[in-house]
Amino acid sequence: MKALVWHGKSDIRCESVRDPILEDGRDAIIRVTACAICGSDLHIFDGMIPEMHRGDVLGHETMGEVVEVGKGVGNLRVGDRVVVPFTIACGECFFCRNGFYSGCERTNPDHARAEKLWGHSPAGLFGYSHLLGGYAGGQAEYLRVPYADVGPIKVPDQLTDEQALFLSDIFPTGYMAAEFCAIQPGQTIAIWGCGPVGQMAIRSAFLLGAERVLAIDTVPERLALAREGGAETVDFRSEDVYDRIQALTGGRGADACIDAVGTEADTWSGIDAVVDRIKTATFLGTDRPHVLRQAIMCCRNFGTVSIVGVYGGLLDKIPMGSAINRGLTFRMAQTPVQHYLPRLMDRIVKGDIDPSFVITHRATLEEGPELYKTFRDKRDGCIKVVMKP
Ligand SMILES: NC(=O)c1ccc[n+]([C@@H]2O[C@H](COP(=O)([O-])OP(=O)(O)OC[C@H]3O[C@@H](n4cnc5c(N)ncnc54)[C@H](O)[C@@H]3O)[C@@H](O)[C@H]2O)c1
Ligand SMILES: [Zn+2]
Ligand SMILES: [Zn+2]
Repeated sequence: MKALVWHGKSDIRCESVRDPILEDGRDAIIRVTACAICGSDLHIFDGMIPEMHRGDVLGHETMGEVVEVGKGVGNLRVGDRVVVPFTIACGECFFCRNGFYSGCERTNPDHARAEKLWGHSPAGLFGYSHLLGGYAGGQAEYLRVPYADVGPIKVPDQLTDEQALFLSDIFPTGYMAAEFCAIQPGQTIAIWGCGPVGQMAIRSAFLLGAERVLAIDTVPERLALAREGGAETVDFRSEDVYDRIQALTGGRGADACIDAVGTEADTWSGIDAVVDRIKTATFLGTDRPHVLRQAIMCCRNFGTVSIVGVYGGLLDKIPMGSAINRGLTFRMAQTPVQHYLPRLMDRIVKGDIDPSFVITHRATLEEGPELYKTFRDKRDGCIKVVMKP
């Protein structure tokens, strides 16, 4: 089959690889009908994620048609149309039983590496390095889905692939980011990053009752889409973000701040961002947490900082003094997608939201390597790429 394969930093190729086969009774194989490129894939593309091996198949936002099921998968049949969560979860361990699917303690066979870096291992993820299981990803014609009795959700006939695909990752992620803010009527939520995740967070914050959303980015078409979603926008290249948020909130700060940027904040963001870039480029640091610092400083006393932008290692110069003295709450996670699926599927079916609004580029797998660049460099108005193998 054809798949997008990692060969090194900025080197992704569309190649022939071996077709996946059932390896366990709880596996299913799906024929991929749509898959997407995520901002998290860009961290791999840019060489920020360790333990990638040449030949690894990428991709973790995938849906398709079931073509084979193992004996232990009672809930799926050949021909079902399903969306596959990016988090692989057993459904039975302590974490899965409590809804913390992305903390599943059974699905990362390489857990020792993750324990060394993070103390404990989270769940395995599709197409996301040998730190997180080394599972082949879904930017491919076929995907092996382990624990297929737990992850995939069936898509009702009335929804198109494009309406359902983002249940695999960015819709639950943006929704979780907003839910972490425990939004009360009248509140103002500030959201850094108007990429696909930030866009989902903006719409979700309104769905959950926010009165105002302040959205921060610099890319014109992304800011415009944020405004279409009802947000007031701040351009971090032309305005002082802290001053503007102070002015917009009567000097108090935002009730909650969402970091939907993560480890690759734009270097234009400020002097600390330049220092972060030098440190990561010279292996003296692992991440560029400019946005997290700013989100903390812009949050009102006793507000919440909700982090869904991904970080990898040890972050420098985080203003913890500000956080403790002002009583901030921190919430963060790789999304336990399975936990959110039924209710978010309901939201789409009811018409509360149509997540396909972020799609700007539709392509084949062969065009994938070029579109990684287009998406990373924010060229050609690119906000979200969907590939149809
Ligand atoms: N927690 C999870 O489970 C989860 C799931 C999906 C994605 N993510 C993460 O969410 C983040 C966003 O993903 P995406 O797909 O939207 O990616 P993206 O790269 O398209 O979007 C990031 C946006 O941040 C903007 N940005 C950069 N510096 C900024 C700054 N200083 N202030 C404000 N905005 C700034 C960029 O212009 C860009 O529009 C990534 O870190 C990704 O890894 C996390
Ligand atoms: Zn993702
Ligand atoms: Zn589990």
